[in-house]
Amino acid sequence: MRFLILTSAILVAHLALALPDVATELYSSLIPSKVLATANKLNNKFPQYTDSTAGAWQLFSADTWTSGFFPATLYALETRKTLCGATSANGLNVADWADLGRKTGAGLAALTTSNSVGHDVGFLSFPYVDELSINPSNATAAAIVNGFATYLAGRFNPTVGCTRSWDSSDPTDFVVIIDNMMNLNVLMVSAQLTGNSTLKNIAISHADTTMKNHIRDDGSTWHVVQYTTTTGAVTDKRTSQGYSDSSTWSRGQAWAVYGYANMYNWTGDYNYLLTARRLATYFLNTLPSDGIVPWDFNAPVENRPADSSAATIVATGLLLLSKVETDILNRVKWWTAAINILNNITSLAWDPSWESLLANGTVNKPANNYLTGTVYGDYYYIVAGNELISMGLAKCP
Ligand SMILES: *[C@@H]1O[C@H](CO)[C@@H](O)[C@H](O)[C@H]1NC(C)=O
Ligand SMILES: *[C@@H]1O[C@H](CO)[C@@H](O)[C@H](O)[C@H]1NC(C)=O
Ligand SMILES: *[C@@H]1O[C@H](CO)[C@@H](O)[C@H](O)[C@H]1NC(C)=O
Ligand SMILES: *[C@@H]1O[C@H](CO)[C@@H](O)[C@H](O)[C@H]1NC(C)=O
Ligand SMILES: *[C@@H]1O[C@H](CO)[C@@H](O)[C@H](O)[C@H]1NC(C)=O
Repeated sequence: MRFLILTSAILVAHLALALPDVATELYSSLIPSKVLATANKLNNKFPQYTDSTAGAWQLFSADTWTSGFFPATLYALETRKTLCGATSANGLNVADWADLGRKTGAGLAALTTSNSVGHDVGFLSFPYVDELSINPSNATAAAIVNGFATYLAGRFNPTVGCTRSWDSSDPTDFVVIIDNMMNLNVLMVSAQLTGNSTLKNIAISHADTTMKNHIRDDGSTWHVVQYTTTTGAVTDKRTSQGYSDSSTWSRGQAWAVYGYANMYNWTGDYNYLLTARRLATYFLNTLPSDGIVPWDFNAPVENRPADSSAATIVATGLLLLSKVETDILNRVKWWTAAINILNNITSLAWDPSWESLLANGTVNKPANNYLTGTVYGDYYYIVAGNELISMGLAKCP
């Protein structure tokens, strides 16, 4: 046994030597300075994506699915400060990031009872979950997390076995999108805070039902699965933001990798680990040879812009998968792929002149919204950078 562990440690050390260097941009002092400049111009609004020519943020009201990401970005810089310290060289000394995160996120609390984002309350909970990791005894933040979880639980249908993603005009149509896997986290956090196992069981039911119906035999995913509430049967499988009903939208695949790695972390259910591996394997095996994540894996090459957000989401998901993975060779495979993907997207999309950190995001290609920065792409770029440091795979600059 000891021999086995020793051999594994040597193997990991050896393979780690083959690690590519992490792109220096991931820790650039331009990151805090751009983020602070954005924070200073918000006026209680929230950045979602930029225009495609100047890289200027387009601002939205709090009641938007992406509003949690910017306050969570500020908390991510607080995490980076904890990891690396705040100096003028790393640029982290220009603000009190946690305080700015609290102020910027204040407008989201009211959405626990009424909102138009539906299942995406899970994303809105991120800054409050972050607040709790800094200050576990903050009862206000806990109440808001529990409020979002109760709201999401209210969208659960036991006949279908899932929480409803999007509302539809016919209430017997029950639409679930693969992105919804990411929103289960708020149920798990709230179950941990309150001891309410109903919340956990809803998350598990959603993950199990999605595992059955959303994933193709080759490990790829449909974006949208529609059920009927009368019997719980699947009535349609299609795309909304991808190229076609039979194609694979890369951001959806990235949410799925991350979502199942996350559910494995919370539950230890081996089926979630097997599923996360299948999803990740499809992603990596289908990635083009230039290593740039396209908006849709099956769109024709001449009509296939990159999606920098799918790149940073999958990289962060792969790092979580690497952390929870039981197989040592897989651990090295996932973290190596994460670094390669981050490096490749940096070399394509790092744009100092834009307000966002990265360009080359695809918000919604069928709606002609692409070649933009995205607030979620930038958020996961910073989180991935933090994770690399805390996993010992990169050093603070
Ligand atoms: C507790 O969290 C809430 C919500 O995030 C925040 O508004 C408040 O400032 C926090 N309290 C303290 C003492 O940090
Ligand atoms: C647990 O959560 C469910 C879903 O929100 C709710 O219906 C139930 O009342 C909660 N149970 C307790 C004991 O609070
Ligand atoms: C992983 O699960 C544990 C509970 O088992 C939880 O405390 C932790 O926050 C989770 N990690 C992430 C990244 O969600
Ligand atoms: C980009 O991706 C390719 C293929 O995965 C990899 O061989 C290459 O090292 C990556 N480039 C960088 C700069 O990491
Ligand atoms: C990246 O963005 C630039 C600038 O908008 C654009 O010219 C280029 O085609 C994009 N590349 C990809 C692969 O999407």
